Amino acid sequence: MTRVISLLSFRRGTGKTHIAASLAAALAARGFRVGLVDADIQSPSLHIVLGISPDSAPGFLNDYLTGDIPGLYAAVLEITEQADISPPGRLYAVISDPGTSTIAKAFETDLKMEQLSRGFLDLSSILHLDYIIADTHSGMNQESLRSLAVSDTALLVLQLDRQHYEGTALLVDMVRELNVSQTYLIINGIPFGQDPHRVRDEAENAFKAEVIGMLPHSNELLEMSSGGIFVNRFPDHPLTVIFNLMAERLAD
Ligand SMILES: Nc1ncnc2c1ncn2[C@@H]1O[C@H](COP(=O)(O)OP(=O)(O)OP(=O)(O)O)[C@@H](O)[C@H]1O
Ligand SMILES: [Mg+2]
Repeated sequence: MTRVISLLSFRRGTGKTHIAASLAAALAARGFRVGLVDADIQSPSLHIVLGISPDSAPGFLNDYLTGDIPGLYAAVLEITEQADISPPGRLYAVISDPGTSTIAKAFETDLKMEQLSRGFLDLSSILHLDYIIADTHSGMNQESLRSLAVSDTALLVLQLDRQHYEGTALLVDMVRELNVSQTYLIINGIPFGQDPHRVRDEAENAFKAEVIGMLPHSNELLEMSSGGIFVNRFPDHPLTVIFNLMAERLAD
């Protein structure tokens, strides 16, 4: 059985894409077969983090949603070697089209997101995946809700401020309405000097969900805006330890 994990956040720029890439690599490094899907068709960026040139992709999620390719598997690029994953782990990516004309048509493809569920099924049966990790567009929109609707696990990424807290409360309600079986919180960019126990307790009390990871602000991660999978680039960094613990908790 493939487990579908979606990363969501109410606000933009919470770190979803970097977290998705590092969690996928950490799971693949543990011997799992992982598919990483950029379900953020309005502002695709997974290809940048993974260092994939759009020209090298055999297709895009958009092509599948518009019916231009027969299945999502036809858009898959294997990045196991490039991400330095050893067997039996495997890492595959499906990216969204970053071309401006396609993004302009995002609303059209957005409406076809209901096909996502069939696409994920195809992908998991053809590639024998243990996990599909979907990176979504921030806020509540067709893309995030469709992805959530086919997910077993929701990872809600937030930062420590009131706007994030209020928005995350809306996402938590949505996740419960859609009967997603597991909801975890990831608190990212925690400023230096915060008491981690207090941060965890406050979030768990506020949202009645487990905090699976607390990532401090890191200059190394900030500087990776031009691309790269954090856990690969910084294997001995304290943040990598947290990513690995999160992957182990997800694999429980
Ligand atoms: N813990 C952190 N410390 C410092 N910088 C971080 C941290 N996490 C993420 N960033 C930086 O924040 C920026 C946004 O990260 P990312 O693109 O992963 O977020 P996102 O939630 O996917 O954004 P979007 O909503 O635009 O899709 C990047 O420049 C990244 O390097
Ligand atoms: Mg993103």
